[in-house]
Amino acid sequence: MKIDILTLFPEMFKGVFEESIIKRAIDEKKVEINIINFRDYTNDPHKKVDDTPYGGGAGMVLTCQPIFDCVNDIKTNDSKVILLTPSGVPYKQKHAYELADEKHLIIICGHYEGFDERIRTIVDEEISIGDYVLTGGEIASMVLVDSVTRLLPGVITEASHKDDSFNNNLLDYPTYTKPRVYNGLEVPEVLLSGDHKKIEEFRREESIKKTREVRPDLLGDD
Ligand SMILES: C[S@@+](CC[C@H](N)C(=O)[O-])C[C@H]1O[C@@H](n2cnc3c(N)ncnc32)[C@H](O)[C@@H]1O
Repeated sequence: MKIDILTLFPEMFKGVFEESIIKRAIDEKKVEINIINFRDYTNDPHKKVDDTPYGGGAGMVLTCQPIFDCVNDIKTNDSKVILLTPSGVPYKQKHAYELADEKHLIIICGHYEGFDERIRTIVDEEISIGDYVLTGGEIASMVLVDSVTRLLPGVITEASHKDDSFNNNLLDYPTYTKPRVYNGLEVPEVLLSGDHKKIEEFRREESIKKTREVRPDLLGDD
């Protein structure tokens, strides 16, 4: 998969994709991530990419021209263009799986007060990573790229993500590792029993219990 991130702040991405699983995925060519500064596409002699809003109001608004030209330059028939915005569709794990099936993602990071409304005409999807407002789309794009990359074939094993939280509308079951007793806290006996059927049942029950406790909305119980 190829991912192009359009941003005014490429330096923010330093380090983020240079560690752990995402770095390995890049090194092994499971994903190609390009950080593109759309300021490079502006026709403005002073390299401006924003302006004051028509009708007045606070803050600066990203102009159409640099983003239109940048997207036109890199877009192919295989591209899915995503705009990050608090008013987008709330991002969920199911959506991450859908995006992981795409060949090419183009992710537009807004900044300042936002972007010219007409930019919406060149995007395929608008995504919000939650009901709060960030200073820009950069951190939101990192969330998207991280969550999608780990689902790409061969990045982590399918077994590692198939029981993750949100699959089957459940949160993950509790996990334990050595030692068997720590500070008087014991590992549930069933996990030491070697009885795989019982372990599976225990994990499913715990998963449902946890979901009911903290996210009943996932079960449709709220
Ligand atoms: C300060 S925000 C603009 C907020 C805008 N005035 C509003 O109220 O919807 C600047 C940019 O950050 C990004 N952003 C902020 N919060 C976001 C969120 N929850 N999900 C996705 N992108 C977000 C968007 O790209 C947005 O254009």
